[in-house]
Amino acid sequence: MRYYVRTPELFAAVFSRATPFLNPLATRSMKKILPLFLALTVTVFAQKFEGLALTPPMGWNSWNTFADKINESLIKETADAMIANGMRDAGYVYIVIDDCWESKERDAQGNLVPDPVKFPNGLKAVGEYLHAKGFKFGIHSCAGTRTCADFPGGRGHEYQDARSYASWGIDFLKYDWCNHGTADARETYKTMRDALHAAGRPVLFSLCEWGQNKPWEWATDVGHMWRTTGDIYDSYDGRKGWETGWKRILDQQYALVDSTGPDGIGKYAGPGHWNDPDMLEVGNPGLTFAESRAHFSLWCMIAAPLMAGNDVRHMKPEYRDMMTNKEVLAIDQDALGKQGFRALSEPSNNIEIWVKELSNGEWAVCALNTGMAAADLTVQWERLWTIQGKFQVHDVWGKKAAGDTGKPYSARVDSHDVLLFRLTPEKK
Ligand code: GLA
Repeated sequence: MRYYVRTPELFAAVFSRATPFLNPLATRSMKKILPLFLALTVTVFAQKFEGLALTPPMGWNSWNTFADKINESLIKETADAMIANGMRDAGYVYIVIDDCWESKERDAQGNLVPDPVKFPNGLKAVGEYLHAKGFKFGIHSCAGTRTCADFPGGRGHEYQDARSYASWGIDFLKYDWCNHGTADARETYKTMRDALHAAGRPVLFSLCEWGQNKPWEWATDVGHMWRTTGDIYDSYDGRKGWETGWKRILDQQYALVDSTGPDGIGKYAGPGHWNDPDMLEVGNPGLTFAESRAHFSLWCMIAAPLMAGNDVRHMKPEYRDMMTNKEVLAIDQDALGKQGFRALSEPSNNIEIWVKELSNGEWAVCALNTGMAAADLTVQWERLWTIQGKFQVHDVWGKKAAGDTGKPYSARVDSHDVLLFRLTPEKK
């Protein structure tokens, strides 16, 4: 992690040593300009904490399943379950409490107050529990005056709230965009970044303004991940007002920028700064097993943050195995940090093929059956034009060798299920 010299502190130290030698008038005017100087230097030198998200962040978030039905026991039970089922050790280390953890109003000093019924021991106690168990502690707030669920938002309280978060041991802040009025997104998120930095505790900063102000164009220096689109729900391609199924969200990525392929939205992502197509719905009741598996595979293909959104305390073994599959996670977490893209789409043949460049000249390839029925999918490797050369093919979900790219690969695939491959260059 890189730490820069804290200029305001340096200046204050020099200033306090120098003052005995200055005349009283100069001292008084220096004192007047000191706050201005401090404000300016904080602005100039503040930055996001580096090194926190070299691969897409992984964890669990309360919103998709629990919404306002959250409390200390749920968070502790979730942590315990994620240790028992192997999720923590597979890399899901951020446990994030989403909206609805607060009391409806700030206290008399303007501080945020955790809901005393949901969190009777406060949030510091929750943080201590999570940290002792090897997790990191995340929380939600909003850049507007109120959160989307109508709890106090951070606007005008950024530095104060950042100090509260630091005192509770917060490691991750998801910062929403409801009730922002006329606020400028870029400036607002920068203010919170600077506030977190000033509070001094490294925090992974997750921007959640739903892509409305094209954060991929300006947020690399502001946060570690940014939502690109609206909210997900547990559906393949349904729509429920503001919420859409995962396939629609995937398709929407393509409307966000003019280019597609390797020059599409993915070119803005990389180590330390990721496009966030929203949290996982894997294992939730609105998806079939196949739809969960395809959602998970494709989120890995686009180097998405993997924030589980299911009730991990009651998880069927097949979903646990899916979400902790090391070979699949290695595609998401590949150190090269390249987001994959759709290389081929043939609606008439019910097939889409996504490719993702990996380290050491390897590639991941994912073929999705977009049809309503099981179908034979064929992958003609030579049509995936960005992948040059000859490769050995490994079927990742099937856990078996699948020949080489010299000849097409065909297999029966359930509706909305995928084939997922890892390609290794053939030795010459
Ligand atoms: C917004 C966000 C969601 C969730 C809710 C909470 O809709 O996009 O992910 O945090 O707010 O109110």
